[in-house]
Amino acid sequence: MEREIQTLRSVEEMQSYAGERPLGFVPTMGCLHEGHLSLARRAREECATVVVSIFVNPLQFGPKEDFGRYPRDPKRDMALAKEAGADALFMPEVADLYPKDFETEVRVRGLEDVLEGAARPGHFAGVATVLAKLLNIVGPDRMYMGQKDAQQAFLVDRMIRDLNFPTYLVVCPTVREPDGLAMSSRNAYLNEEERVAAAAIPRVLFTARDASSTKPEILEETVREALISERLIALEYVCANDAATLGPVTSETRKILLSLAALVGKTRLIDNLVIER
Ligand code: PAJ
Repeated sequence: MEREIQTLRSVEEMQSYAGERPLGFVPTMGCLHEGHLSLARRAREECATVVVSIFVNPLQFGPKEDFGRYPRDPKRDMALAKEAGADALFMPEVADLYPKDFETEVRVRGLEDVLEGAARPGHFAGVATVLAKLLNIVGPDRMYMGQKDAQQAFLVDRMIRDLNFPTYLVVCPTVREPDGLAMSSRNAYLNEEERVAAAAIPRVLFTARDASSTKPEILEETVREALISERLIALEYVCANDAATLGPVTSETRKILLSLAALVGKTRLIDNLVIER
């Protein structure tokens, strides 16, 4: 039997929504794809109530980034969220979450200075701030996020522990297209030629993982060299970090997070793989 899905458009409505416990929460910026839906399905398996939020958060976009043209498709999102088993869709307005006198910022020190944080100043403060608000408004027992945004999940886990949010974070595997490209709302920006070229990103990550060395410099060099010949791809960074700390790889490192950001045409994509040592 298909469930009804409730659309909650204000903070007040969300706060007075009484879902059965445990309540699972999937925060998104909408334009839902299989990556998002895998989180909602996992929440459906594990929770009595599933809430999905759709909010394109202006705080986490830089002044020259794509906030204005970020893809939005609320009708389609509603149908997809319902199909994936969501009970409620929380879709607040910007002015409701950030009234004119809004002044607070949540920052997770250290983690915002590396990888994506270094490349996108202010981005993770925007993410941490909106998620602190959403956690307070939705009040979930479990929150579901994707390994696709590994540093984001890492930072949110830190924030949850540092600020004692009573929520358990579940990090779910990256969902990929048949050619390996990690699903992302931003893939919609790619033209046909770029879309074909973008498959090189996961391919070089898997090649690096399957090569014989787990030395960080060699992993990074393998990715760099393989992408040089890709005419439509400009690598921004590739970095091998200790997956448990996001710091440098040391003799203690068990798992390496190999992550990269690259421009495919004008579209900025990120991807990562965890490599066992
Ligand atoms: P968004 O990019 O919409 O992603 C929402 C959630 O879906 C994140 O946890 C992300 O890691 C996960 N996700 C995206 N693509 C995925 C894929 N291919 N496989 C598995 N999971 C995937 O990330 C954000 O929104 C925002 O920063 C947000 C957390 C909502 C705060 O504004």
